[in-house]
Amino acid sequence: MSDTSKNATLRIGDSSYELPIHSPTAGPDVIDIRKLYGQAGVFTYDPGFTSTAACDSTITFIDGDKGELLHRGYPIDQLAAKSHYLEVCYLLLYGELPSAAKLEEFETTITHHTMIHEQMHNFFRGFRRDAHPMATMVGVVGAMAAFYHDSTDINDPRQREVASHRLIAKVPTIAAMAYKYSIGQPFVYPRNDLDYAANFLHMCFAVPAEEYVVDPILARAMDRIFTLHADHEQNASTSTVRLASSSGANPFACIAAGIACLWGPAHGGANQACLEMLKEIGSPENIPEYIARAKDKDDPFRLMGFGHRVYKNFDPRATVMKQSADEVLDLLGVENNPVLATAKELEKAALADPYFSEKKLFPNVDFYSGIILEAMGFPTAMFTPIFALSRTVGWISQWKEQLADPQMKIGRPRQLYRGETTRDYVDIENR
Ligand code: CMC
Repeated sequence: MSDTSKNATLRIGDSSYELPIHSPTAGPDVIDIRKLYGQAGVFTYDPGFTSTAACDSTITFIDGDKGELLHRGYPIDQLAAKSHYLEVCYLLLYGELPSAAKLEEFETTITHHTMIHEQMHNFFRGFRRDAHPMATMVGVVGAMAAFYHDSTDINDPRQREVASHRLIAKVPTIAAMAYKYSIGQPFVYPRNDLDYAANFLHMCFAVPAEEYVVDPILARAMDRIFTLHADHEQNASTSTVRLASSSGANPFACIAAGIACLWGPAHGGANQACLEMLKEIGSPENIPEYIARAKDKDDPFRLMGFGHRVYKNFDPRATVMKQSADEVLDLLGVENNPVLATAKELEKAALADPYFSEKKLFPNVDFYSGIILEAMGFPTAMFTPIFALSRTVGWISQWKEQLADPQMKIGRPRQLYRGETTRDYVDIENR
């Protein structure tokens, strides 16, 4: 925790309490209320954690007003343009960009952990064919704890490191297997001669009957999607991973918890929901009807891929994703894509509408990612698994940071209880 030189004074009735203020390297000051309950006997109330910093972190910083996202200080647009996913993984995990030798060693390690225990193949076969791949992933990633006993001791630094490498390496294999299983095709083993993104495309799209050559431009676009989703500080799924980990749970259980949380349409499930929405809108002339529905308080419909808890300006990832969408569709020779045309018109119409500008609702990362993934050949059900595999490194980096933090305690929020006070049990015949 940073040094404090400032205090906040809280007055409750005639009593006042001095609360230390911590100054971060970037972002707003933080009032330290850890001793508040002990001293004043009150809780703070913040459902949705809109004003609560739950941990110290040095990994990722977002300035939502500027639309800035930094990993270990490096802007996401620079990383997306100049770096690649495994280098960003190293940066997130270890704090610095690697030397050429360190990067080679890291890539070799990850590459040599991509196969999963052969017995796990049988485990897949227990799922229904029509299971959503996210359901399969929650189960199989959690089940890694049953297959990799030698990396579940969170108190052993070497085991923690091996678990980190295994998760980064094997989650893409599991995601690809979940996909292959859902379409009734044989599993495709990882290939060590391919890079991380190309290997994932190969595991998803190759079949034993013929050769599949990965297009390097598509592999680059895939790698950029992974990079753009790698980490996003204390979002819902990351906080879920930290909360699960605070009890001392093993890393595979914690990441499975993160995947479960990511699945929801307000979080990682938004990319699937966004593409489905764009298809439902169908063509630009229907946009006004959907904009009106999104603004109507009595209609639960929201513009998917719009709005963000932290960004009150453009999501910098969306800007890169939009360029990527143009490049990929161009490469694939997809001209006049109606979904992309609808997306561009919808973005224009929403940005011109005071409802969205006043509430600072801008396109987020999910607005364009689904268009790229669909053009690459992925069905909508695979969009969130791809988000999950990309985010695994972020979850693991935050998990590792939390375990090394001497201030770590089990996460245990309190509540504003509004239920009944003590009352006597009533026998069933008297109710
Ligand atoms: N369409 C229409 N209205 C919206 C939208 C939207 N997409 N998002 C927020 N609003 C309105 C909302 O109705 C509320 O209005 P009012 O103040 O009049 O009640 C106001 O804007 C603030 O919304 P909120 O729900 O209080 O804001 P939040 O910070 O709790 O929610 C959000 C953030 C991302 C859940 C929300 O914007 C949303 O549901 N967006 C659509 C889903 C989506 O695209 N999610 C992906 C997020 S980015 C990827 C990720 O992190 O996983």
